[in-house]
Amino acid sequence: MKIAVLPGDGIGTEIVAEAVKVLNVLELKLEMETALVGGAAYEAYGHPLPEATLKLAKEADAVLFGAVGDWKYDKLDRPLRPEQAILGLRKNLGLFANLRPAICYEQLVGASSLKPELISGLDILIIRELTGDIYFGQPRGRRIASDGLFPGTEEAFDTMRYSRPEIERIAHVAFQAARKRSKRVTSVDKANVLETFQLWKDVVTEVGTQYPDVALDHMYVDNAAMQLVRDPKKFDVVVTGNMFGDILSDEASMLTGSIGMLPSASLNASKQGLYEPSHGSAPDIAGKGIANPLATILSAAMMLRFSLNQEAAAQRIEAAVKTVLAQGLRTADIFSPGTTRVSTLEMGAAVVRAL
Ligand code: IPM
Ligand code: MG
Repeated sequence: MKIAVLPGDGIGTEIVAEAVKVLNVLELKLEMETALVGGAAYEAYGHPLPEATLKLAKEADAVLFGAVGDWKYDKLDRPLRPEQAILGLRKNLGLFANLRPAICYEQLVGASSLKPELISGLDILIIRELTGDIYFGQPRGRRIASDGLFPGTEEAFDTMRYSRPEIERIAHVAFQAARKRSKRVTSVDKANVLETFQLWKDVVTEVGTQYPDVALDHMYVDNAAMQLVRDPKKFDVVVTGNMFGDILSDEASMLTGSIGMLPSASLNASKQGLYEPSHGSAPDIAGKGIANPLATILSAAMMLRFSLNQEAAAQRIEAAVKTVLAQGLRTADIFSPGTTRVSTLEMGAAVVRAL
């Protein structure tokens, strides 16, 4: 089993190092190869996603990814910015299905900004379409406007776009995931305003007829954003487009108290996947040894489950994470009085010990 390890920037290197230690202790036959990506790759090779890194990722069964980005690259031309590395990997590997679970760990109920009773037991799965929508739609660009409200002035434009097959395949992922859970799918759209999302709603409804055992409802994205903080537990599987999914998954992650706890998987049609924490590179705390490695460690568990067919090993990692939380060990982001504050290294070592 070949794994491309791409730590990236900021806290990426610190947290991926701990996940690699955890994988090594499992004694599986894993072949791990590391490469530069994001700002780190730009510094070394002048490009955030060098050919060699892309090749390594394509040839691997799975990619373990840290995070990319730093404010210092904000002035670069868009194609050279670190974020293009993750977008390029998603597009080139066809990783259209992004699974972002938002699970509230019982010991961390107090870490959320919401009332404990609202989030205790929370277990939502956000499924975000990842290779279409306004992120990738053409045409896009800047120009001098020839029409509109202010002709002759500078304007910029992006194109929101979805095809029927793109919507069908992500809908199938959602319904199949719901079958393994509480059999409810909420499809989030903006069909009241956008043609793209009227098609989305129509196609999801059609696909839904093939899953009569799964209850489907539809919600406008603005309402969904509101319901997520009003009564999050009424959701089970949420399926939505790339842009709305980006926003709603950040919102959902904070319901659980810490974005530092949440893993994610991005899968293609052949179950090849990229696994990364839901959080970013956090340049403000990079190099301080205080980042929470648990989201990345849990992403490694998802990798074992979805791409490497090692369900038992995935469950062992998840159990080990629960053990260290039960031991009261907390990195800064999830610390509360009465618990023990630990560093990135100490948290990784504790998970290794628990295993
Ligand atoms: C995410 C991130 C990315 C996105 C950025 C880094 C390009 O916010 O994975 O959610 O917008 O998809
Ligand atoms: Mg995001």
